[in-house]
Amino acid sequence: MFKAAVITCSDKGATGLRHDTSGPYIKEFLADLGFDVIAQLIISDDLKTIKETLLYYADSLHVDLIITTGGTGFSPRDNTPEATKNVILREVPGIGEMLRYESYKVTKKAYLSRGVSGIRNRTLIINLPGSLKAVKENLACLDNVLDHGLKVLKHLDTDCGESN
Ligand code: MTE
Repeated sequence: MFKAAVITCSDKGATGLRHDTSGPYIKEFLADLGFDVIAQLIISDDLKTIKETLLYYADSLHVDLIITTGGTGFSPRDNTPEATKNVILREVPGIGEMLRYESYKVTKKAYLSRGVSGIRNRTLIINLPGSLKAVKENLACLDNVLDHGLKVLKHLDTDCGESN
């Protein structure tokens, strides 16, 4: 069973000004896929806070997957991609490419998300946009690749013969 953490990056969410529905949705989605979701939390958009939180779950708790939601847009406080780039050791550009490409079929604004994905040691980190609508659309694409990607990362399955 893979271990996961879900992090909502939102100043408003962290101060109680906005009710977060995206984090709980991701948690349920992952739990339904069989993940052990050990944490689902809301933090501010502060760059250092996001970076330290990512490091904590990757390096101290050794989760297999961290999904963030929020803070990927153009606002000056949207720091999630920068924090993620700070901690990943290997980029996984294909995940962002896939999410934006598939989401573009629903909304052209999909390309306004600067979300990145990458690997730190044995932890895969994926940035999703903040809205529940965007999260649902993005998770629908991820469903197809998460299990195989994590198995390869964990050396559990290196057979890539299956084409879809
Ligand atoms: N992706 C999907 N699939 N659906 C959406 O509605 N919204 C976009 C984009 N990605 C959207 C999406 C919009 S409007 C913005 S501003 C960016 O994500 C960044 O969102 P964030 O700042 O909440 O992370």
